[in-house]
Amino acid sequence: MICLGIESTAHTFGIGIVNDKCEILANVKDMYQPKKGGIHPREAADHHSILSGKVLRETLEKSGVELRDIDLISFSQGPGLPQCLKIGAVVGRSLSLKLNKPLVGVNHCIAHIEIGKKKTNASDPVTLYVSGGNTQVLAFVEGRYRCFGETLDIAIGNCLDQFARSQGLKHPGGPKIEKLAKNGKWIGLPYVVKGMDLSFSGILTEAIKKAKTNKLEDVCFSLQETCYSMLTEVVERAVAHTDKEEVLLTGGVAASERLREMLSIMCKERGAKLYSVPKEYSGDNGSMIAWAGILAHNSGSLENDTKIRQKWRTDDVVVGWI
Ligand code: ATP
Ligand code: FE2
Repeated sequence: MICLGIESTAHTFGIGIVNDKCEILANVKDMYQPKKGGIHPREAADHHSILSGKVLRETLEKSGVELRDIDLISFSQGPGLPQCLKIGAVVGRSLSLKLNKPLVGVNHCIAHIEIGKKKTNASDPVTLYVSGGNTQVLAFVEGRYRCFGETLDIAIGNCLDQFARSQGLKHPGGPKIEKLAKNGKWIGLPYVVKGMDLSFSGILTEAIKKAKTNKLEDVCFSLQETCYSMLTEVVERAVAHTDKEEVLLTGGVAASERLREMLSIMCKERGAKLYSVPKEYSGDNGSMIAWAGILAHNSGSLENDTKIRQKWRTDDVVVGWI
C-alpha cells in the first residue's frame, strides 16, 4: 500500500509519499513566509494553491512512484486555518477522483504523534506537541488521544515569535531567542499554569515590557526558563497521572535544546524515557499525513468526506488502529 499525504493546515504546503512500513519515499514541502507580521490566512492559501502543482511534481519525481501506483490519498482535515485546509482538501479530492482511489481525512495533531512514535520507536508516550500554532499535552487512554493540558491562549511558538518580532528579530523567533538566552541571567517573569493548562499571552506582554528596561539577553533567558518550566511541570503531572513511561517531544519548538534538557531531567527523575522527533518529521510535513492516512484507512475510518474541520479536537477521533 502506498499513500500520498497532503499537509496544508497553516504555513506549510507539503506532500509525502509513504508505504505501509512507514518508509518515506519522498517528503517535499514549501513554507509560506509573510512579508511582515504574522500569517495572513488568504495569502497562505494562495501560496498553497500556487505551489501545489510544483510540490506534487517534485514529490513524485523524488519518490520514483508513478501516480497510478498510489493506492490511497490522505489530507489534513483539521485543525487549522479554514482557507488553508480547503486547498489541501481540494487537491486531495481532485487526485482521488482522477486516480479513482479512496480519500481519507486525518487529524493533524494525531499525525504528529503517529509519525513521531514510528520514527523514534516510542510505543505509548505522553506527547508534548509544541509549535507556532499548537501547545498540547496528549496521551492515549481508552481508545482516544486525550488532551491532558493545553494553552488557554497563544501557542508557545507564537509567544516566542511575537516576542522576537517585537524586538526586531526575524521569524522564526525561537532559535534567535535560544541563542541570546545563552548569555542571559534570570530577571523574573510571571509563571502561569492553571490546573493542567497554560497561558502565555500575559508572559509575552510582560516580557515586551521588561525588554524596555533590561538587557535583551536577560529577557530571552527568563522567557525560556519560565515557559519551558511550565511545560515541563504539566508534562510531569500527565506522566504521573497516566503512569506512562515515555515522553515524546514534537512540533517546531522541539528543536529547543533547553526544553529538551529540562524534560530529560524530569524524565530521568521519574524513570521515564524521552524521545525527540527528528527535525524533518517534527515540523509540519506531508509524510506524517500519509502515514496517519494508512493507519486510518486500515482501521476502517470514514472515507471520501472532504468537509474541513477547523477546530477538530484529537479526542473526537476514535482511534481504531491501536
Ligand atoms: P503547527 O501548524 O503545527 O502549529 P507551525 O506552522 O508553527 O506548526 P513548526 O515548524 O511546527 O510550524 O514550528 C515553528 C515554531 O518552532 C516557531 O514558532 C519557531 O519559533 C519554533 N522554533 C524553531 N526552532 C526553535 C528553537 N530552537 N527553540 C524554540 N523554538 C523554536
Ligand atoms: Fe503541526
